[in-house]
Amino acid sequence: MSESSASINESSANEPPLANREQWSSRLVFILAATGSAVGLGNIWKFPYITGENGGGAFVLIYLLCIASIGIPIMMAEIMLGRRGRQDPVTTMKKLAKESGHSRAWGLLGWMGVIAGFLILSYYSVIAGWAMAYVPRMATGLFNGLEADGVNTVFSDLVSNPEGLIAWHTLFLFMTMAVVARGVRGGLEKAVTFLMPLLFILLVILIFYAMGTGHFKQGLTYLFTPDFSKITTEGILSAMGHAFFTLSLGMGAIMVYGSYLPSNTSIAKATFAVAFMDTLVALMAGMIIFPIVFANTLEPSAGPGLIFKTLPLAFGHMDYGTFFGTLFFILLVFAAWTSSISLIEPAITWGMKTFQISRLKTSFISGVLVWFLGLLTVFSFNLTSDFTITSTISTNYGEFVILKDATVFDFLDYLTSNIMLPLGGLMIAIYAGWLMKKKYSREELNINRFWYTIWLFLVRFIAPTMVIIVFLNAMGVVAFIRTIMGV
Ligand code: PHE
Repeated sequence: MSESSASINESSANEPPLANREQWSSRLVFILAATGSAVGLGNIWKFPYITGENGGGAFVLIYLLCIASIGIPIMMAEIMLGRRGRQDPVTTMKKLAKESGHSRAWGLLGWMGVIAGFLILSYYSVIAGWAMAYVPRMATGLFNGLEADGVNTVFSDLVSNPEGLIAWHTLFLFMTMAVVARGVRGGLEKAVTFLMPLLFILLVILIFYAMGTGHFKQGLTYLFTPDFSKITTEGILSAMGHAFFTLSLGMGAIMVYGSYLPSNTSIAKATFAVAFMDTLVALMAGMIIFPIVFANTLEPSAGPGLIFKTLPLAFGHMDYGTFFGTLFFILLVFAAWTSSISLIEPAITWGMKTFQISRLKTSFISGVLVWFLGLLTVFSFNLTSDFTITSTISTNYGEFVILKDATVFDFLDYLTSNIMLPLGGLMIAIYAGWLMKKKYSREELNINRFWYTIWLFLVRFIAPTMVIIVFLNAMGVVAFIRTIMGV
């Protein structure tokens, strides 16, 4: 990963000719960058808390099924479209649609991704700010010897103070935009090469700690024994939404990364590597958090604060906890950093091209926009925490909860993860599976006939059907049909 190894960087506002376009120097660099995008708050912060909110095992199983049957094939499709288009997501989709003789309206897919990126980054940056805020708290030994109540208080003090949250949000967003403005190369890429493995080692150490809590088995049972009575229609939707979120799919992030991928590298192998590591990290996080939850009689359904209420308990009671705890939150910030960059990269590449302005200016303008949007999330935890939305659809066949007591943050998360990303993924699957000429997709994927047929089957039938059924199910339509048909 030398300086010259090209990556996402200062391509000028005028798209460079194809041949000169920057590329990752190898498949490994791409895998690192894509893993950097995939592994983030989604794995360590979000996966445990939504698993806890949805009752454990059954949710995890559905999530894993979604990764395998929807996530992996769509990821291959998205990387493939990106590499064939070699532009920002909007232009890529228009260009590919033209190539295969379809409407330029496919550019809308790219558009939705750009918007989703803005919305997700706006709250992502605030939560990453929480992780940053925990670094000095850990380093000064604030949690040493504290019990659950004390740790809870630290968390609620943090989130009830809007000025503090704004300050951390500003700092994190600044870090993100600084990298994006210069192009993702050199420093950060190098950093990721050793920080990611370090995060992994730290997770292993924490698993050993969790084993010593006396509740490890209970944690594993919670995670891996499906109890389908606990799963709701919204639970299924959020398991699917999370599969998209955690793999960074459906909004153009992986498409843009794919656009820098050299033509001769295997998309399938890279996809498997990224999906495997991403899933591993999430499951490890779960195996750490839940034993701590049960050992301290905490609630698995504590919500977005779950890891901030559980992990400090562990660090506060373990040998060298101050050191490990500080390191852990630093690494979490890094993991979030490499993801946040990819969230805004589609918007940056698109903005530069559309408005013909420099990367720096585009980054600045985007940063300001995201900063303001982020205030909505900041206030969701304090000033406007009582402002909630509940939305249900009542039918003769039951009541369908779309949102329950959702704050603005919850709403943004729901809108992006549960609707926009799966919808984007659905469109990618339909485009890649049905509309793109087979000749092109075979050429890009470059896998043997057997695997190509499997991929095509998944992308044509399984992935779209599942996304559509889960959408309809969440809207009560499936229950309606079942009632009519008496099954
Ligand atoms: N995959 C990232 C995570 O799990 C979040 C993300 C979503 C990044 C969509 C880019 C695009 O934290």
